[in-house]
Amino acid sequence: MAHTGELRAKFEMALQEHIVSLQTPLELVKPMVYSLNGGGKRLRPLLLLTALNIKDPKLVEKGLKTSIALEYIHTYSLIHDDLPAMDNDDMRRGQPTSHIKFDEATAILAGDALETDAFGIIANDDQLSEEKRLQLILELSFAAGSNGMVAGQLYDINSDGQKITLEELKQIHLLKTGYLFMFAVKAAAIISGADSKEKDLLNQFGNHYGVAYQIHNDLKDVVNIGMDQDSLLHSDEANGKTTYPTLLGIDGAKEALLAEIDACHRCLKILELESKLNYQGLAQFLKPLSIEK
Ligand code: IPE
Ligand code: IPE
Ligand code: MG
Ligand code: MG
Repeated sequence: MAHTGELRAKFEMALQEHIVSLQTPLELVKPMVYSLNGGGKRLRPLLLLTALNIKDPKLVEKGLKTSIALEYIHTYSLIHDDLPAMDNDDMRRGQPTSHIKFDEATAILAGDALETDAFGIIANDDQLSEEKRLQLILELSFAAGSNGMVAGQLYDINSDGQKITLEELKQIHLLKTGYLFMFAVKAAAIISGADSKEKDLLNQFGNHYGVAYQIHNDLKDVVNIGMDQDSLLHSDEANGKTTYPTLLGIDGAKEALLAEIDACHRCLKILELESKLNYQGLAQFLKPLSIEK
């Protein structure tokens, strides 16, 4: 069974090999790689590879291309999220955002390229059957597209300065952040040929993890709860955003976060009972989200 460090190294190697093989014009490859290699935590690829590793370490290789495609989509979403017309952020991961480093048109096009190429990467993956490739492309397009992340981003932007309910906020979090995490674990289920019950439980884990992750992200915008470089940006405040802390207060947001983390642990327990596999490898993703009450 490989450790996270090994999975991370495998992912990085596969990504860098992939980048080196690109035939893309230099003006476009530069901003793509600037953001792809900008210091992201690689959570989504690592979730996918960790889940695959739990199912069968031999399957990890088969998940590498899909993990790269997923990191492409995530990277594009951040480039566009930071644009002046969206969150208007100048810094990400302690470095200038794409439109500041390059210019707005280049940032938009780098995002467009990453988004479109992601689907080609899966379509070209000869380690997977055509049926699995098609399933993965369909699920990724669902998670990232107009019924998923993009819809979440639209609701998120439209809710700026508006009063929204907790239910609505949770739905936005689920769409804009949860769906890509759900894809990560669902992709592992597809690649490993897991049964529908296991697939459903992995999906539920991804759902609670995604909401927990976004609550944590909202919290770290206003309180010091980690050593993250982007801590205390107060960007949500500047954009008049409704967040878990604005709706529930800091303590209420922390409680909501803990409830989502508990739900994740419950999913893992049931997964273990159902599959007789040790799913604790996924529990490590919850540790960085843990906070003092
Ligand atoms: C940030 O995601 C945006 C959200 C969806 C909350 P990550 O925290 O995974 O970003 P990087 O890639 O590690 O910087
Ligand atoms: C980013 O959400 C979600 C997506 C890019 C889909 P946020 O706007 O809340 O995340 P940060 O704070 O910019 O990382
Ligand atoms: Mg945003
Ligand atoms: Mg943002």
